[in-house]
Amino acid sequence: MIEHKELENGFQYIEVNNHHATAKIALQGAHLFHYQAINKEPLLWLSKKAYFEKEKAIRGGVPICFPWFGKDNTDPSLPQHGFARKQVWKLISTHELADGSTNLQFMLTPNKETRALWDYSFVLIYDVTVGKKLTLKLSTINTDTQAFEITQALHSYFNVSDIKNVSIEGLENSIYYDSLEQALAKQHKALSISEEVDRVYFDASSKITLLDGDRKIELNQEGSNSLVVWNPWKEKSETMTDMNDDGYKTMVCLETANALKDFRIVKAGETYSLKVIISQN
Ligand code: BG6
Repeated sequence: MIEHKELENGFQYIEVNNHHATAKIALQGAHLFHYQAINKEPLLWLSKKAYFEKEKAIRGGVPICFPWFGKDNTDPSLPQHGFARKQVWKLISTHELADGSTNLQFMLTPNKETRALWDYSFVLIYDVTVGKKLTLKLSTINTDTQAFEITQALHSYFNVSDIKNVSIEGLENSIYYDSLEQALAKQHKALSISEEVDRVYFDASSKITLLDGDRKIELNQEGSNSLVVWNPWKEKSETMTDMNDDGYKTMVCLETANALKDFRIVKAGETYSLKVIISQN
């Protein structure tokens, strides 16, 4: 079942309930901010102080970073992570699938604001399939007459019991860019987090496993050769107005991305898709 819901301030979202899971997706940003499979913990972390307001990104869930990830490399004054997470998308189709999953498609096309920031013609289609697994697929269709370059991310915030219990597998032997040290380094073993982490891993496994005590969450990624790992830790969290001070203890971002040197060029008339299928034990 799909319901259109609205908060008192006019903020709109879609609620999905089926035999497998429940999910909530805001039209602003096509921002999935809740997904919970039946008899499981909520998969995604959501800040207790998240804004559900016009033109503000929601802190948690899965913000979409597009058409650039992080700071734009030509003009750092442009908004961090692009415009897609703050634009209002259209829900263009919904389908109940044979296995009881629900598929929703959201679309974003250019307008005055996107043109002012990035003067290209494009169609973005975001496919969300809410089932036993969660499938997210962002397709960029270049409807312009010239090629364009993109970096992007499905900036997923995972909800964990305690960051101390977390181990991330699939990054072993991969080289990462450490944004805090501004240097490259190599990951030798599974990743544990006990301080601020802000890294882009290159050429890691397409299958990443997040272990949290008895919980096991698996990300199967397509179209991505970079994975961003982020946890702001204590001091940075305290400077963020939309993050509860101890929020960092129960979250970790594992972002299926095309970031930094993993940028993509999409030629006129071509489509490029970035996809992640998330499953849990
Ligand atoms: C991560 C970046 O993807 O997003 C971090 O690697 C950044 O550097 C974080 O701080 C959150 O960004 P924002 O714009 O949502 O505060």
